[in-house]
Amino acid sequence: MDIILLGPPGAGKGTQAHRLVEHHGMRQLSTGDMLRGAVSTGTPVGLKAKAIMDRGDLVSDDIVSELIDAELTAMGPATGAIFDGYPRTEAQAQMLDGILEKHGRKLDHVIELEVDEDALVERITGRFTCANCGAGYHDKFNKPETPGVCDRCGSTEFKRRPDDTEETVRKRMGLYRAETAPILPGYEARGIVNRVDGMAAIEEVTHAIDCILAD
Ligand code: AP5
Ligand code: MG
Repeated sequence: MDIILLGPPGAGKGTQAHRLVEHHGMRQLSTGDMLRGAVSTGTPVGLKAKAIMDRGDLVSDDIVSELIDAELTAMGPATGAIFDGYPRTEAQAQMLDGILEKHGRKLDHVIELEVDEDALVERITGRFTCANCGAGYHDKFNKPETPGVCDRCGSTEFKRRPDDTEETVRKRMGLYRAETAPILPGYEARGIVNRVDGMAAIEEVTHAIDCILAD
């Protein structure tokens, strides 16, 4: 099963993707994580992407689509994919159709996380992740069980994203409205869009997604 998790910055795409990976053995394909990996290892893609990401703009459609294509090639047909943060433009949505066809795959669900934008700034500016395993946390909504220690791997090192400032978040939200939301009608026409209340508690959102996947 292949699904897209769609929603503005801070909607909970990464949080829910991690949980789906644990529950269903699917694979998370986050273009944001791939790009951050490329930035931290200093690859040519990373060198190109860093400044664009830091100011909250979109990296080129070709670059992110090539990253997705390469990941699908590496993971093989048996594992389901969770597209997190991709596609983000009409051009990417078309590219994804071509990539899926090439790999003999098809989209089962586009799950839109519906959220109140005013709450997202607080979500994003309070977000941090484990520097070792990438588990996601929040200062208020999703704290580690033992303060300062990652629940998943026991690391005591955490990090925050350079693009998680209020100014950049607002810019990313504007781009979501202008570039990403317009891809929804195309998926609606195919009858594969499901909406979930992304303002519910994290566990409830996961439950709602599980119900969609079980349908
Ligand atoms: P990307 O990494 O994809 O960032 P984003 O889309 O802005 O989304 P976020 O990762 O900020 O939010 P999320 O929905 O994953 O929320 P999370 O689960 O962490 O992209 C970053 C940049 O890379 C882009 O700006 C662009 O430059 C570039 N890029 C990436 N993909 C691209 C593409 N396809 N094309 C072009 N450029 C691309 O949750 C947020 C916080 O809230 C967490 O702390 C979490 O614990 C908490 N939380 C989550 N759910 C809940 C809940 N239900 N209740 C309370 N708290 C919650
Ligand atoms: Mg994310």
